[in-house]
Amino acid sequence: MDRREAVLRELNLYPAWVRREQPVVKTPDVTNEPPQADVFAPAPMHEVSSGDSLREFQLKNAGGALGSLTFPELKEKVRGCELCSLRSGRTQTVFGVGNEQAHWLFVGEAPGVDEDATGEPFVGHAGRLLDNMLLAIKLKRSEVYIANVIKCRPPDDRHPHVGEVASCLPYLKRQIALVQPKIIVALGKTAASALLHTDATIASLRGRVHDYQGIPLIVSFHPAYLLRSPMEKAKSWQDLCLAVETMNAGSG
Ligand code: URA
Repeated sequence: MDRREAVLRELNLYPAWVRREQPVVKTPDVTNEPPQADVFAPAPMHEVSSGDSLREFQLKNAGGALGSLTFPELKEKVRGCELCSLRSGRTQTVFGVGNEQAHWLFVGEAPGVDEDATGEPFVGHAGRLLDNMLLAIKLKRSEVYIANVIKCRPPDDRHPHVGEVASCLPYLKRQIALVQPKIIVALGKTAASALLHTDATIASLRGRVHDYQGIPLIVSFHPAYLLRSPMEKAKSWQDLCLAVETMNAGSG
């Protein structure tokens, strides 16, 4: 038994199977966040070169006033963020980790206690499961980019409030614009709702390919939920298979 098969068995995901083709469903990217000081200030538009596709233009100009920031500048901006009350409970902000030119972007909800202590997303129990899920599709943490919607740990690890998501989302949008991934995997309701601007359930969003500004987006369960509901791991494997298929179809 090789390492991958061992991991799949541990995840209750063996034998692996491949999904049939799924329809592409476009989800409109409606920007309806409440206005916030600073991040929603008028953004300087990036120059459009005649070779830019609409997607490249949208990506370059995503993130409102953050739209001109480089990765180091954005990190600095997040480090000093005072936009919501989560600032007072944080040990440090948790920006994101991985390959800044990755083809794969995984988006979670918010840092927990371990992430708050280390400054890196998904390093606790849920993170170990995420690492195994990545391994199952032959990816290493260093090859992908991992970020959260929220950059500061919410008190008692509660779900973030709407205003906190609205304040923090422009940072994630700018990260996406900078990474320019070929696929996004939204892990859990907070990530899916924030990126697709929908209140729909995970169950109704799974199993099809959504669109985030021209980038295919797959919705799946949050690893922390999978730890509590291990029977759902098989569905999570289906989602990963769909993501791999979508990626392969796009790069072919
Ligand atoms: N859960 C998340 O959504 N993100 C983390 O970084 C850790 C746990």
